[in-house]
Amino acid sequence: MTLSPQWLDELRSRTTLSTLIGRTVKVQKAGREFKACCPFHNEKTPSFTINDEKGFYHCFGCGAHGDAIRWMTDQRGLGFMDAVKDLAAEVQMEVPAPDPRAAQRQEARATLHDVMAAAQDWFVTQFNGIEGTAARDYLKNRGISEKTVKEFGFGFAPDSRGRLKEALSVHGVDQLVEAGLLIKVDDRDPYDRFRGRLMIPIRDPRGRVIAFGGRILGDGEPKYLNSPDTPLFDKGRTLYNLDKASPASRQTGRILVVEGYMDAIALAQAGFEDVVAPLGTALTEHQIERIWKMVEAPILCFDGDNAGQKAAMRAALRALPILRPSHSLNFISLPAGQDPDDLIRSDGPQAFAELIGAPQMLGEKIWQVEFEAEALNTPESKAGLKKRLSDHARDIADHDIAQHYRQDFQERYENAFFAKRDNYSRQGQFQRSKSGSKSQYVSFKPMDDTKSVLIDGHDLRIAKAILGGLIRHPSQISKHFEELTILRLADSQMQALLSELIRAAMRKEMLDMQGLLTILEQTDCYNVAKGLLRADALNFIFNRKLPDTAPSELIERAQSDLAEAIKVITARPGLEAALAEATRRVQDNLDEESYAEQQRLRQAKQEFHERLVELTQIDDVV
Ligand code: UTP
Ligand code: MN
Repeated sequence: MTLSPQWLDELRSRTTLSTLIGRTVKVQKAGREFKACCPFHNEKTPSFTINDEKGFYHCFGCGAHGDAIRWMTDQRGLGFMDAVKDLAAEVQMEVPAPDPRAAQRQEARATLHDVMAAAQDWFVTQFNGIEGTAARDYLKNRGISEKTVKEFGFGFAPDSRGRLKEALSVHGVDQLVEAGLLIKVDDRDPYDRFRGRLMIPIRDPRGRVIAFGGRILGDGEPKYLNSPDTPLFDKGRTLYNLDKASPASRQTGRILVVEGYMDAIALAQAGFEDVVAPLGTALTEHQIERIWKMVEAPILCFDGDNAGQKAAMRAALRALPILRPSHSLNFISLPAGQDPDDLIRSDGPQAFAELIGAPQMLGEKIWQVEFEAEALNTPESKAGLKKRLSDHARDIADHDIAQHYRQDFQERYENAFFAKRDNYSRQGQFQRSKSGSKSQYVSFKPMDDTKSVLIDGHDLRIAKAILGGLIRHPSQISKHFEELTILRLADSQMQALLSELIRAAMRKEMLDMQGLLTILEQTDCYNVAKGLLRADALNFIFNRKLPDTAPSELIERAQSDLAEAIKVITARPGLEAALAEATRRVQDNLDEESYAEQQRLRQAKQEFHERLVELTQIDDVV
């Protein structure tokens, strides 16, 4: 039997060598590699190194060296075919049946590479010719430089059913069909697949063109037309730009994952060369594994809108079953409706750099999405949240990791719903709100106003939204001096920003957003402030950029929502503390009065929560 080099490469790349070797000897992470005491000779200090990315091991002591197959033959003592079969079974690959035509097929693949290379040349020639004018202009309008055009090999497919077929006729129609360049329907004459499109070549890890994405110039459907799966191209196993991103990631220790080709290209042009994209589908396990061979925690970039957040969650859930020690995913959310390409064009590379500077971790992401999935205003809905979280933790196959996630979710859950007695054992008194606010919820006034209110846990995110709202509506800062000055944010950057906002408002009576930003520019808080303006998962109206022409009711609505959010967040910790205290009293001596008090507090807390949820449900207003 002959196994093709491609098949063996695939087998090696699907096998994680450190895991394989780790079953026999104890391996330890050492930077990008793993170390172990060499199983081939006797030693006490490890000189045996495993490199997952390159897929080989090497002993600096005795010179033992090899790949996964070699490990199975030399260490485990298997014959070559048995080694291959064992490894293949592990990674769900089928060992090809003995086939005299295997060599022939390999030959055919080699020819397909030639066909793709010829097609790429031809598309580039068309792009540079007279017919390519519109495509060239299109890219220029999108801010793609000539250097980038060359580096990424943009081409153009003329609007014709037979031009490519004719130009590449020496390769034979069958080959062109197999390469996905021609479409063949039944017995009819095959014709060019890509017509009137900007062509983006998709390369394999060795840089060879294996497929194309064709973008329509302007509007129309489908926006992108991609090569079908072919012997060279398997969409679920390919990552766009991997060949360039892999070496770049060795410099940066980072991989960015974006949703579109053009995002990857725009980022690379802006200096973020360690970027890959799946090909129009959700990330597959195989793609995640492939990325983990380069870095342990890639940063996945998704649109902040609903669809984007759903996609982020899909990726998160897909990773859970395959998580292994030290490997994870990080997430950033872009401002709603923007992809990385849009953001870089509107706000510049620095804006993107700031976002990726503070990514969300996997557990935090899952928590956030589930926490915001529905209103949590009944015991049942809260228990529902708990159930979903524990289901997610159960999906994690790795025992240790699962345990940590369970604990992390548990802590977040308790922080969100149960008062922390130790932190807040302050007494307070309650009174009906007399202000003109729409809702009549109970407000809590700490008896000792000089005492601060600590904001942490989930409320920190609301605090961030409020800070963002204050930057958009600086006139409101002085209106809420009293409440703002007693807040203590458990995030030092945010606390620093809050202090700067208060200081700025004290110094200057009339303050607009630009004026405020100019002041902040002199401080360390500027980037944090800009970040808050850009990205916020919370959907408050005061975090929206309202058009200059916005009616005054809308602005007033934003400002009164902001006032309410501030009120809720300042009162809630005290309320929670009082509730905890009352609950303790009920437990200690169950009398009517303490029970009534506890129920009232519980009700008040519930109303706070509902009010916050209401404030974020604004899609009908804007
Ligand atoms: P997007 O529509 O977000 O792509 O789709 P984009 O890169 O931002 O496109 P531009 O900026 O309008 O040019 C994300 C990815 O989904 C796939 C492509 O891989 C695209 O890059 N896609 C999208 C398709 O395959 N077909 C489509 O019709 C649309
Ligand atoms: Mn785009």
